[in-house]
Order: sequence, then C-alpha cells, then structure tokens
Amino acid sequence: MRVALMILLGLVIGILGTVNVMSALDARHPMPKAVMHTMGYHMGELAHALKAKQCDAAQVRHHLERLQSTATDIVPVFGIAEKDFTGKATELQTRLQQALQPAPTSCAALATAIKPIDDACKSCHQQYR
Ligand code: HEC
Repeated sequence: MRVALMILLGLVIGILGTVNVMSALDARHPMPKAVMHTMGYHMGELAHALKAKQCDAAQVRHHLERLQSTATDIVPVFGIAEKDFTGKATELQTRLQQALQPAPTSCAALATAIKPIDDACKSCHQQYR
C-alpha cells in the first residue's frame, strides 16, 4: 500500500514538473511572431506614409529606429543558428543602419531607403517562412 502511494506521488510530481516545463516553453513561443508583427507594423506605417505622400521626418526616423532595434531580437528569439539565417538577419540590420544615415526627410528619400530593407525581409521569408 505504502509503495503504491509512493509510486502515485512520484507520478503526480512528474506530471506537475512536465506541465511546468511545457508552460515555460509555451511562454517563449509567441516571441518570434511578436518580433515579426512589430516589424510588420512599422514597415506598414512607412508604406502608408509613402502612399499618402506624407513623410514626416520625425515619424519616419521613429519607425526606422524601431525596425532597427527590433531586428536585433530576430536571432536570439528565433534560436536558429544556421549561418544563412543569422546572415540574413545581420543583412537586415546593416540595411536599416544605412537607411538611418541620414534618416530620410522626404518621400523620395524614404522610397529609396526602404527598398533594400523590403528586399532583406523578402529574402529571408523566401527561404525560412
Ligand atoms: C532572418 C530572417 C527574417 C528576416 C530578415 C525577416 N523575417 Fe519576417 N519572418 C521570418 C520567419 C522565419 C517567419 C515565420 C515565423 C513563424 O511562422 O513563426 C516570419 C514571419 C513574418 C511575418 C508573419 C508573422 C506571422 O504571424 O505569421 C511578418 C508580418 C514578418 N515576418 C515581417 C517581417 C518584416 C517586415 C521584415 C523586414 C523588416 C522581416 N519580417 C524580416 C524570418 C525573417
């Protein structure tokens, strides 16, 4: 009887442990998509500005800076160590940095700056999405 109880107790502890680990893994799960959605939002705002021909310099700089800082989360959050993947993430960061030196102050300048960034997004999506 005692032995059966100990076995049962062991099982319960084991299951509780598994549940804890599973929820810890689950909490990590939304991050890759959250990073991508954040970048998608800022790219969308820049595209809207271009469409409306209203490229406020401060707003444009803000969205580019948010893209740049969010892009630094790609590698740690996705946890993909493949050279191709990390290389494409670095490429995006480099292009964002270039787009901010100096930050575009007109729609024409923004259109030119955003093209290589958009290409960097697409290049990784073609291979990994
Ligand atoms: C280094 C690779 C890489 C780069 C660079 C990259 N992405 Fe992604 N992106 C992915 C992967 C992988 C997925 C699929 C994620 C998933 O389904 O969990 C994705 C998915 C997305 C999604 C869809 C998210 C969803 O819920 O399915 C959006 C939006 C997105 N990316 C936007 C962008 C934008 C905007 C850029 C450029 C500024 C960009 N991405 C650059 C790898 C990348």
